[in-house]
Amino acid sequence: MADFLSAYSIQSWLESCPQGYLEGTEYGHNPGENEPDLLITNEVLREETIRSTVQLVVGERCALAASSGLINAAPDEASKRFLATQTLDEARHVEVFTRRLADLGVRRNQLEDTIQRYANPNLVKFAEILLEKVDKKDFVAGVVGQNIVLEGMAFSVFELIYALNQEMNPKFAHTLSGTIADERRHVGFGENRIGSLIKEHPEKKAEVEQMQKVMSYYMLATFADAFRNNRAAQEFEHVGAQPAHARFGGVDLARMTPEEMEDVLADTVLKEFKTRLGRIGIEYQTPVRP
Ligand SMILES: [Fe+2]
Ligand SMILES: [Fe+2]
Repeated sequence: MADFLSAYSIQSWLESCPQGYLEGTEYGHNPGENEPDLLITNEVLREETIRSTVQLVVGERCALAASSGLINAAPDEASKRFLATQTLDEARHVEVFTRRLADLGVRRNQLEDTIQRYANPNLVKFAEILLEKVDKKDFVAGVVGQNIVLEGMAFSVFELIYALNQEMNPKFAHTLSGTIADERRHVGFGENRIGSLIKEHPEKKAEVEQMQKVMSYYMLATFADAFRNNRAAQEFEHVGAQPAHARFGGVDLARMTPEEMEDVLADTVLKEFKTRLGRIGIEYQTPVRP
């Protein structure tokens, strides 16, 4: 418990995050960095970039609601303090991705309409399942749903987007690298804290396993919507933008169709779930493939 206390304390959060990898950044990236001109001037690419950024805002708003809601459901003080740091991380993620929408030309008075218009219904459903558990102050299900399922997904999605943007859009890649570092900490907390709680509450297992299965289905459905008939990929090809070489999960994304990328991402996330859930004594349930 001593290690747990220091690794997830506010003190180590301060040292590693605001005084560490975020030092000197502005909304998560280096001051003066901008989105590439092509994403602003090409209407199709601008719209598709707005659409994909909206999914990040929706996911992070859910994480903000979940992490703050779980503070009062947590059975111990150390978890409450960690979740307070996570709450600030998630609020920051909401802020940096919302800021990106502004950088892409979304005006403040258009923000909520834009989010409503582009939010993927499957992702909204995914978030609702988690927030139902949080509303019931169900700490065990809430932490598995948030710190393992939602953040396991976010972690891999961010890494994939990071790989795709590293050469083409250093500004956004920098924003992502800070959020990836945060998500790594959040996932670590979930695994460390929840293993012992599952042992204390074996009666929760079946319900948690069912939740993971349903959330995984909506996650895969979100991926399917995002990758199939991908307008951005078609437009990049149309304007002759050279695909950047980008490695993810041991493969070269530049040689892949969006459908192949979807498979790699889905397999990576589901494999991660299986490993992490196994470590906390939860049996991974294979979701239906949309
Ligand atoms: Fe987040
Ligand atoms: Fe997170």
